[in-house]
Amino acid sequence: MNTSNILINWYQENKRDLPWRNTADPYIIWLSEIILQQTRVQQGLPYFERFINQFPTIYDLANAYEQDILLLWQGLGYYSRARNLHQTAKIIVDKYNGKFPDDYSDIITLKGVGEYTAAAIASFAFGKSYPVIDGNVFRFISRLFAIQEPIDTKSGKKEITNALNLIFDQKNPGLFNQAIMEFGAIHCTPKKPKCDTCIFNTQCEALKSKKVMSIPVKKGKTKVLTVNHTYLCFIYEKQTYIEKRTTGIWKNLYQFPLIEEHITSDNIANIVNHYIDQNSKYEIRDCFESRHILSHRKIDAIFYTIYVNTPPVFSKNNIFEIPLTDMITRFPVSILTQNYLKRLNQ
Ligand code: ADE
Repeated sequence: MNTSNILINWYQENKRDLPWRNTADPYIIWLSEIILQQTRVQQGLPYFERFINQFPTIYDLANAYEQDILLLWQGLGYYSRARNLHQTAKIIVDKYNGKFPDDYSDIITLKGVGEYTAAAIASFAFGKSYPVIDGNVFRFISRLFAIQEPIDTKSGKKEITNALNLIFDQKNPGLFNQAIMEFGAIHCTPKKPKCDTCIFNTQCEALKSKKVMSIPVKKGKTKVLTVNHTYLCFIYEKQTYIEKRTTGIWKNLYQFPLIEEHITSDNIANIVNHYIDQNSKYEIRDCFESRHILSHRKIDAIFYTIYVNTPPVFSKNNIFEIPLTDMITRFPVSILTQNYLKRLNQ
């Protein structure tokens, strides 16, 4: 049997039963792939179910308020993906009359759809012959062929793509793509690959040369930049004050007034005095420190809960007043703010 048939047989016996499989509906496939770009299957499943329940068709998603989409996406991170989801739904409704384009060259022009996602949609939904290359495929192929060129270099990627093309099944592209990704995800795993029971254990070059654990090779890690955030949660008679972000990864999410510095509890009084009237009183009831690590950035955040006896005054005019409880239920926020709100609500 050739490699592709071995993989496909393995897949048919071992695959996980997932709601976006056994369908050729491009809307369902696209939505699941965008969610799965962001998280693992187990964490992604409840998000997928909520999206499909709330937006059963592409028309429902296109007609939604962005805020509701961001709220459903909350916790997944990289909110530009949720904004792109909305924009793409609108484009498909407006430009393609609600019918998902079936041509790879059209699919790849959609916002938030890169080479991987375009190949996934084209092959799973339309049976087109495009190989998918995600992290799981990279790992499996580089081990099977003992490719030692770093996978985060152009030459490494090219070598893996060439090797993949040797085994790619032109006749069953969708099935082959699902199978190879699933094999990487649940069998040829990063830390504990199941080499003892592997269907490729006589074929795998990395196993033969005892290099399974050192392949794939990575050249260098991305530099992580540390940034400091101090958030001021003013509370005046159960009201609070928030702003909508206009830039960055948390664009269009809401936040408490932010100072992009680390303000220690020794210095916070000086800062708070800028926001309240000379004769007003305030009390800092809580100070919550939290860290959020992204692939390229580490955010050290500190939240101050500040009770005031008169409304605070802001020099920026984009800050507005809301009931504090609305911040928990109505406004999409970053995971950092979500964690702080959970604590505040206890
Ligand atoms: N990860 C990305 N796409 C996937 C899919 N279609 N099935 C399972 N895991 C995935």
